[in-house]
Amino acid sequence: MNKIALKQNVLRSLDSDYLRWARELMSENRWSHTLGVLNNIDRLLDSYAQLDPFREQLLLAGLLHDVGKDLPLNQQKQLAGQLQNGLDEIEQQLPAIWHGPAAARLVLSEFNLKTADPLIEAIALHSTGASTKHTICDALVVADFSAPDRDFSEAGQIRDKISKLPFNRLVHETIRYKLLECLDNFKLIHPRSLEAYNRLCE
Ligand SMILES: [Fe+2]
Ligand SMILES: [Fe+2]
Repeated sequence: MNKIALKQNVLRSLDSDYLRWARELMSENRWSHTLGVLNNIDRLLDSYAQLDPFREQLLLAGLLHDVGKDLPLNQQKQLAGQLQNGLDEIEQQLPAIWHGPAAARLVLSEFNLKTADPLIEAIALHSTGASTKHTICDALVVADFSAPDRDFSEAGQIRDKISKLPFNRLVHETIRYKLLECLDNFKLIHPRSLEAYNRLCE
């Protein structure tokens, strides 16, 4: 099966209301990234049986995780601030992660879901990772980090390791790379990312 056929197959399995809404909110580049993430999620589902029970939510998480990213930063911040407890002190200083909670807020407003829905949590936390076990968020973090449009070599390395490593190890390596990137560039690290890393230490 070639890549295009795989994508079309995945797209057909998604609810058309979500699909139409998400497509309208995204630029061409964002949409192409989203298709790459969906492709990765499909590969993860083929490779790890423990993801089977989460199939529908995982594909939706892939589809919706970046619906807030094409909005201006001030709007992302405003939407993110409306989700549950709003942005914490460190999140306030990390504009790159605002689009996650902003997307979660947009999805909540549009569809009949609760803030505690694992789908909403996964979308909100996809940039930092989740501090406690969260299969949907873990799979989304891997699929997003290793999307084919990423131009850093670590993305390709993670993509190549799908199906070859146990799932938890794949998530751990992904979070490790994300932390290393922060350290190398003297960027702030959100404590949730460290907690995600620690949780996966065996
Ligand atoms: Fe994102
Ligand atoms: Fe993304």
